[in-house]
Amino acid sequence: MPGAAIEARVIDRTLPAGEIGRALAEMFPSHARDPSGPSSPAASSPAVNSPAARFRDLAPDELERLLPLVLEASGTDFGSYKEETRLRRLESRKSRLDLRAAEDYLALVRRHPDELRRLQQRFLVSVSSFFRDRAAFRELERALAQWLATGGAEAVRVWVPGCASGEEAYSLAILVLELLASGRQGREVRIVGTDLNSEALKVAARGIFPRGVFREMEPDLLARYFTGHGPDFEICLSLREVVKFEQGDVFAGPPLARLALVSCRNLLIYLKTHLQDRLLASIHRALLPKGLLFLGEAETLGPGSVPLFTPVDSRHRIYRRRG
Ligand SMILES: C[S@@+](CC[C@H](N)C(=O)[O-])C[C@H]1O[C@@H](n2cnc3c(N)ncnc32)[C@H](O)[C@@H]1O
Repeated sequence: MPGAAIEARVIDRTLPAGEIGRALAEMFPSHARDPSGPSSPAASSPAVNSPAARFRDLAPDELERLLPLVLEASGTDFGSYKEETRLRRLESRKSRLDLRAAEDYLALVRRHPDELRRLQQRFLVSVSSFFRDRAAFRELERALAQWLATGGAEAVRVWVPGCASGEEAYSLAILVLELLASGRQGREVRIVGTDLNSEALKVAARGIFPRGVFREMEPDLLARYFTGHGPDFEICLSLREVVKFEQGDVFAGPPLARLALVSCRNLLIYLKTHLQDRLLASIHRALLPKGLLFLGEAETLGPGSVPLFTPVDSRHRIYRRRG
């Protein structure tokens, strides 16, 4: 993971292990100062355990004051995202700018409105890799093979909401092309990844990746679908032909209809329950009757979405559209 994060160029600083403690204490002084520890009575009280209370370098209403400004500048409403990630990201951004007081950061935002866009991109956590959680992809391959065997001549349309830098969309393309290797059986294959993060999408469209993001991918697949350029690998034409990327909010709806598969991995974890249900309902509408849903390993269906999908493999978060 550390190697992959460094190569994906999504981290602020790379340091020897011995220096990380001091650097973290400098970046998050409120945590470093905390003498109570997690087991003290004060630390275990509900108020102290709330996400906001753990970020005492931030004023209580700081995020609330910034969110409408981010919405206005970027069009993204983070109001229904889980608070913890945004608080952590805001604190780290301010620390990077060497700002402590809420007013100082707000003054900077007024002087440089571009900062709000930067904050929006920082709130979006766009880390990915090829075949992330390989065992789950193997099970998905089995479920897709079954779908292909029973799905007539239906096109294979796939949506990857929250695709980040594209690794997941390309992994699915490899998986589908491998399944269809014995001849495309006349099927159209279209895979569309969408994301709000414009920087991540630039990496996705370029299709050149560092070695670290291929850790879970077999070398023979790497040789078949990529060309080496020094330390990096570029996707081959057959992947470029079937995978496209679009910038957009997943709540604006899917980019394709009659979907065979929606791979929505590691996005739901950032959303509050009602927003998860909203997204899953829209995915349900866009899937073919027996279309598949693939979630991240730490994600599951909320109570509002359980009636919409039948588990195919609960452990690996693979579901089939119901109804
Ligand atoms: C942790 S990444 C997941 C990447 C990939 N799906 C994977 O599992 O490897 C989450 C992605 O969701 C995107 N995202 C968050 N909210 C979004 C929204 N409302 N619309 C589109 N993308 C969103 C973020 O920009 C980020 O790239």
